[in-house]
Amino acid sequence: LSSIRVDVGDVEPGTQISVKFLGKPVFIRRRTQEEIDWANEVDVSELPDSNARNANLPADADASDINRGLLPPGAEPGTDSEWLVMMGVCTHLGCVPLGDGAGEFHGWFCPCHGSHYDTAGRIRKGPAPENLPIPVAEFLDETTIKLG
Ligand code: FES
Repeated sequence: LSSIRVDVGDVEPGTQISVKFLGKPVFIRRRTQEEIDWANEVDVSELPDSNARNANLPADADASDINRGLLPPGAEPGTDSEWLVMMGVCTHLGCVPLGDGAGEFHGWFCPCHGSHYDTAGRIRKGPAPENLPIPVAEFLDETTIKLG
């Protein structure tokens, strides 16, 4: 299986980059504390999709924010991370959602049929059935994320 390394050293809080992996866009966002707080405001049981959809966790992990973020080296397990890494492919019919605070939940908005994703990439409103999936990923060091 192929993998790629992404340098995230220049990604400031409140911004994101998009890279191509296996022919698909992957969004890597460094979230602000406000974005993390917004993600934690919702009860997981109220989400349209309460599954984390995180390839790095057990299949039944819930969609709480700590199960969506990617922890940097040295971070305490089970804590919130500013880093969010996910496929930039709408779970409805595969369009690429717009980011940088788009949509009604300050996250991503898919213009094709109006799906709104929140600051943890979870579907909140619209026809998309699932949260944006999180691919196999890990930090190799402070500024390098390995995908795959
Ligand atoms: Fe995104 Fe339909 S493809 S809402």
